[in-house]
Amino acid sequence: MPRKFYVTTPIYYVNAEPHIGHAYTTIVADVFNRFHMVFGSKTFFLTGTDEHGDKIAAAAQKADQTPQEYVDRISQLYRDLWPRLNISNNYFVRTTDTQHKETVKLILSRVKENGDIYFSDYEGLYCVGCERFYTERELVDGKCPDHLTEPEVIKEANYFFRMSKYQKWLIDHIHKHPDFIRPERYRNEVLSFLREPLEDLCISRPKSRLNWGITLPFDENFVTYVWFDALINYVSALGYPDGELFKEFWPSVQHITAKDILKPHGIYWPCMLKSAGIEPYQHLNVHGYWNVSQGKMSKSIGNVVRPLDLENVYGLDAFRYFLLRDMVFGLDSEFSEDALVARINADLANDLGNLVSRSLTMVHKYFKGELPEPYFPEKEDEKLKTQALDLIEKYEELMEDLGFHKALMAIWEVIGNVNKYIDTMAPWVLAKTDKERLSTVIYYIFETLRIISALIWPFMPGAAEKMQDQLGLPRKGKDLKLKDLREWGRERPVKVLTKAPALFPRIETKKQERQLQQKEKSMTEKKLPLISFPEFQKMDIRVGTIRKAEAIPGSKKLLKLTVDLDEERTVVAGLVGYYTEEELTGKQVIIVANLEPVKLMGVESHGMVLAAEDGSGVHLLTPDAETVPGSKIK
Ligand code: ME8
Repeated sequence: MPRKFYVTTPIYYVNAEPHIGHAYTTIVADVFNRFHMVFGSKTFFLTGTDEHGDKIAAAAQKADQTPQEYVDRISQLYRDLWPRLNISNNYFVRTTDTQHKETVKLILSRVKENGDIYFSDYEGLYCVGCERFYTERELVDGKCPDHLTEPEVIKEANYFFRMSKYQKWLIDHIHKHPDFIRPERYRNEVLSFLREPLEDLCISRPKSRLNWGITLPFDENFVTYVWFDALINYVSALGYPDGELFKEFWPSVQHITAKDILKPHGIYWPCMLKSAGIEPYQHLNVHGYWNVSQGKMSKSIGNVVRPLDLENVYGLDAFRYFLLRDMVFGLDSEFSEDALVARINADLANDLGNLVSRSLTMVHKYFKGELPEPYFPEKEDEKLKTQALDLIEKYEELMEDLGFHKALMAIWEVIGNVNKYIDTMAPWVLAKTDKERLSTVIYYIFETLRIISALIWPFMPGAAEKMQDQLGLPRKGKDLKLKDLREWGRERPVKVLTKAPALFPRIETKKQERQLQQKEKSMTEKKLPLISFPEFQKMDIRVGTIRKAEAIPGSKKLLKLTVDLDEERTVVAGLVGYYTEEELTGKQVIIVANLEPVKLMGVESHGMVLAAEDGSGVHLLTPDAETVPGSKIK
């Protein structure tokens, strides 16, 4: 029987459009869900919208629409957004769905039958933004800590849920299940809250004040408090109480939320479940806030970053990667577009993108695109294999534990190792000296790439599948299971590996782009003066062999070449787009060797490569027979 996994996001309020905070939680849930898919579990992933309550009624009024028209419109924005972010949810629940409303009524009746609902007068401090009463103790300087507004004093007769009855049970449950609420800081926060006597929860609103809600099954003058209504989505969507999905998936449920709604999820919900006779959830996974300019991004404050704006400019997979790589799950993170660009260029375009493209170029150049068989692996090859296989184990542990950024760091460490392995093994030299050894090296590179492609799939499904296509793998995406990865050499490519465009194009920031354009312009505009023969004789022109060619961060045209001129030196050349790094490696070129060093895009160049330029491109000058590196041109 496959393991089961059920993951939920909060159901988002439809009082405004989604921003990257919502995108983050939903992408985390998606990554977690996809991870469990490749792990071999049978999964169910739920998201949706929260559509009742004061806030929504007020937003509808402001938009000059009926609440139903309004919630239909905004809920659709969320529903349309998720496929654009490649979210793999199985169901989208709305609290205005008939099935949901019926389930809320059923649970209210059960809880009431248990004697856990009573009617009473109440006066309390109410925050409209949070839609809940606050105790004095929870306020900061008399204000709601989230909305920074003073709560209103509201006095009315209402129905109450006897939450206090479950305080002791909840404390015991948390102690018995240390990872019930995680990371630990949030568990501690809930436990610290539970040190004070727990108040009963007001679960109704009189229709005289608010009628946009679910009518109480036992008093039609009241609607259900929005939180008592909303939390029930997690079971109503599965067809509680008799639905097959409920029986199958509820026992493995994990919720994901940010810390703003820790209390409803960490306290109200387990008590509600207990009262209704439903097993508590497995884990509540709580993350921090994405902040902008040190403040929490929020719809009410109005400093939001819209996910599609970023997805359009930078590409979906890069955006997903950034969110998961830059936030430590549980802690706050500051969002900045510069940080996003830096990540894309360094981790995606440089490290991973270059690795894939240089590997594919080699398999094409040396083996016509067909993966060769390995011969006799040596110590270095076995070391790479061990690193790659160990990575799978480490990845599983970290992912189970919500260590998404650590899992990515571990993958990137191995990516760095493959890049180093290629540099050390120098396949371009082996191509000339030892074809068997070359086969083994290429084989080990591709086996490691296969593992990497599967491990990045939950984070970047699009890029991973593109990479798996390029690697010619017979299975890809969710069909390539972690257990199959453990067998080195199991997934032989079914066809010739494809040479394909870069997985992640570099992003040039406006500033870098401008600087580069200016530099290039000034370089081409320089007029060349006539020189005398003795002056020409001063030039030291030599044959060099390019040992290594690397991209220069931030540059669209320049490559850093390591050239053997009998001694090694760095030469910067504007060859991007004309030659690949692999084509250059091993190539013999002509170098002006006694030029004054010059710094180009932060790299000091000691010489110049000679090339001809015509309408069709740039063509390097090269001796017409292999020449000893360092030989002088006469
Ligand atoms: O609270 N950083 O809905 P909501 C990170 N309807 N995540 C953020 C964020 C930020 N700056 N801002 C929002 C509600 N989020 C209720 C939930 S569940 C039964 C009912 C994410 O639209 C994060 O997941 O205010 C947070 O918990 C959620 O959006 C709040 O969404």
